[in-house]
Amino acid sequence: MRSRYAAILSIVCSRRIAVSAFQAVGSNGRIHESSKSIATTSSRLFGENGRSSAAVADKDLLSKTGSEKNNRAKVALDTNPPKGTRDFYPPDMRLRTWLFNQWRDVAALYGFSEYDAPVLESESLYTRKAGEEVTQQLYNFVDKGDRAVALRPEMTPSLARMVMAKKGGLNLPLKWFSIPQCWRYERMTRGRRREHFQWNMDIWGVNGIEAEAELLSAMVTFFKNVGLTSEDVGIKLNSRGVIGEVLTELGVPEEKFAATCVLVDKLEKVRRYFTDVICCRHSQEKFKVPIAAIQGELEELGLETSTIEKLTDVLTNTSIESISAVLPKDSVAVKELTQLFELCKAYGIEDWVMFDASVVRGLAYYTGVVFEAFDRKGVLRAIAGGGRYDKLLETFGGDPTPAAGFGFGDAVIVELLKERDVLPTFEGSGYDTVVFAMNSDLYGVAINVASTLRAEGQSVDLILEAKKTKWVFKHASRNEAKHCVIVAGNEYENGEVSIKDLSIGEQKTVKIDALSDWAKDVSQK
Ligand code: HAM
Repeated sequence: MRSRYAAILSIVCSRRIAVSAFQAVGSNGRIHESSKSIATTSSRLFGENGRSSAAVADKDLLSKTGSEKNNRAKVALDTNPPKGTRDFYPPDMRLRTWLFNQWRDVAALYGFSEYDAPVLESESLYTRKAGEEVTQQLYNFVDKGDRAVALRPEMTPSLARMVMAKKGGLNLPLKWFSIPQCWRYERMTRGRRREHFQWNMDIWGVNGIEAEAELLSAMVTFFKNVGLTSEDVGIKLNSRGVIGEVLTELGVPEEKFAATCVLVDKLEKVRRYFTDVICCRHSQEKFKVPIAAIQGELEELGLETSTIEKLTDVLTNTSIESISAVLPKDSVAVKELTQLFELCKAYGIEDWVMFDASVVRGLAYYTGVVFEAFDRKGVLRAIAGGGRYDKLLETFGGDPTPAAGFGFGDAVIVELLKERDVLPTFEGSGYDTVVFAMNSDLYGVAINVASTLRAEGQSVDLILEAKKTKWVFKHASRNEAKHCVIVAGNEYENGEVSIKDLSIGEQKTVKIDALSDWAKDVSQK
């Protein structure tokens, strides 16, 4: 049974094998046979650290191994982006921009300012020792200056670094947001990929759960704005204070708090897996809590099995009332959670939030309230997650500074919006007008026409090559342009151009001198 637990744990919790394979193989985690042979040969030709460009290496290789034409066919470019990453063609980009604008609009409504940081950070920013998945999934490497660097898997450590760099020079409290691309060497599942964009909303400098309530309200405003209801999405709330209080009662030292939380989160994932998958498949099997799955880590941490059992027992409580019965009378966690629910009521978001003691979150730095938004149908993975992390700055050697925030990925929400059929359609190119010269002598005039219309704020597609009129109209209609301006010899001699209104099919002539007025007129319609 132990090995079965271990196997499941390795699927559910750990990606160590994948990560070491990744480290051995390189950033896209794959080597194709053709490129593998080239890589081997070129490293033989130029040495492991050879600076020669890939193009030079390939050329040498090609001249050694046969005709260039044949070899070009063998090493044809793989047009897929690296596994787990995405290309954004214009229609995908329209969807992405729409989503980001929704996030930006909500951030502005709540008074958050936008910030950014480099996607490449020092690896040491993420080397926390609590056994978190995210630190095992790093895209890390040593750069040419021998620095250990990593692509950021999340934004919170960069934000902490930026706050710390200002050495108390920032006016607290601060409310900042960002939409970074984050990189994690994940096992790919629906809604989980190796890069994702993550809306981050964080408040620094507020001690009380007023910060959490404001963040939750912002998240719900986003859900409402994109057409979701509290029947589609719920937000589970808990506090790590619950775990802290149980550990204190059991005499477990404070320094084991973070690692214990991460372990309990792992156990929760395994337990859910057992409940949802194993127990459904083999209903006669009564798996309780498969502690054996985390036995090794438990021993490493020096925790008694009974401690974890007690914790998991507490975490099966389903209401704040029942959890308060097993915690000390003056429990701070219970008091905070009760207040948080009251504030949620004041914001009018009480239908969206619920207490769930089993939500612990897998990141080590959370210290208090934690929350996770989920699809009520239970089909998709977590939509968003966050919590309070009052001690993160201290772990970097900074001053104690309270902080709370959340991260909200772009992948699961798009799946959910598609599933609920509330995703807007993003058709058309957004051109207002297509401008076209009937012959090359008039191309200069077409440029002037396009410039005049652009100066009036129109989005203009100037046709850059000689094309037939039929092609131009087809192109304009395919791109849902509103008008087409044709610069033709006869009209030009009269100082005019023809303008076709593509929505009604009517064509008229307009004086070139009056084009600005025409553009102003149509913009008001
Ligand atoms: P996290 O729970 O690791 O938290 O990620 C937050 C959200 O990012 C997830 O709920 C999910 O929507 C999205 N996400 C994470 N990993 C992936 C992935 N591989 N593919 C697609 N989406 C993903 C954090 O990262 C914290 N730093 C959030 C935070 C900000 N806490 C306080 N402030």
